[in-house]
Amino acid sequence: MIEVRTVAELRAQINSLKKTGKEIGFVPTMGALHEGHMSLIDAAKKLSDAVVVSIFVNPLQFGIDEDLDRYPRQEAKDLKMLKQAGVDIVYLPSVKEMYPEGFSILIQTQTYADILCAKTRPGHFDGVATIVTKLFNQVQPDRAFFGEKDYQQLCVIRSLVRDLDFTIKIFGVPIVREPDGLAMSSRNAYLSDRQRQLALSLYVTLNMLASKALQGRSPTYYLAREGRHLLGSKGFDKVDYLEFRDAETLEEVTNSIKRPTRLLVAAHIGSIRLIDNIEILP
Ligand code: PAJ
Repeated sequence: MIEVRTVAELRAQINSLKKTGKEIGFVPTMGALHEGHMSLIDAAKKLSDAVVVSIFVNPLQFGIDEDLDRYPRQEAKDLKMLKQAGVDIVYLPSVKEMYPEGFSILIQTQTYADILCAKTRPGHFDGVATIVTKLFNQVQPDRAFFGEKDYQQLCVIRSLVRDLDFTIKIFGVPIVREPDGLAMSSRNAYLSDRQRQLALSLYVTLNMLASKALQGRSPTYYLAREGRHLLGSKGFDKVDYLEFRDAETLEEVTNSIKRPTRLLVAAHIGSIRLIDNIEILP
């Protein structure tokens, strides 16, 4: 596995891969890797000749009161996992390498800018779209892999590629969960045992609401409200959203499930913000 830390080093490696006609699969991450990330790498390996993984905790996508400083960093462990997985190139740029002095361009997302995570994390998806654009230009992959765990992010990336004419094919990879159902997340490391127990009720609640929605006795709008109250009564400190949305357009589904739908949630336990979502098919 080749480790590179600068754009110039990366370019040299990418050029030699391209010269031999290798198709590149790319998995961008912020590190603190777990099986969720590894499933993206597996998918990339299956569909590409060479796999590039980036590890970069992107300051531009964190709000001022968010967890940028305490975001888990475990480079040595991550590198070991990537090597074992047979990754070809790992790219670990510094903040200065990515955003040198004078950096002044920001990609602004419009389509999903006022719903779900964008509502409580203003600027977050602009930060994501900007870093992913830079990474796409630097890595020049044929395919890129993103988790359905961050479902709105996946939708933003699909529109980024479409609207800015990238020729990269985007793949969405299903959520990897702990054996009991909790969606794997780097932020799960913050949870105490008691909080970990409460966190699991997110997935349980989503499943309960999905089966009620499919029974069709109450409109999804009411079920979503019921779900938000339920999470509050179980002990979540704040529910940012719990909503049924069209799986493709992310338009709100207020009545019944007629098309592929996603039930998405973001909720806080103390200062820890967790997200999850499930697919509901009519
Ligand atoms: P990060 O949170 O490290 O996630 C990297 C990728 O792993 C994302 O595509 C995310 O959806 C996926 N992922 C995380 N947990 C997962 C799980 N349990 N199952 C499946 N996939 C999972 O998302 C980011 O980093 C950043 O925003 C990034 C795209 C790298 C831009 O900075």
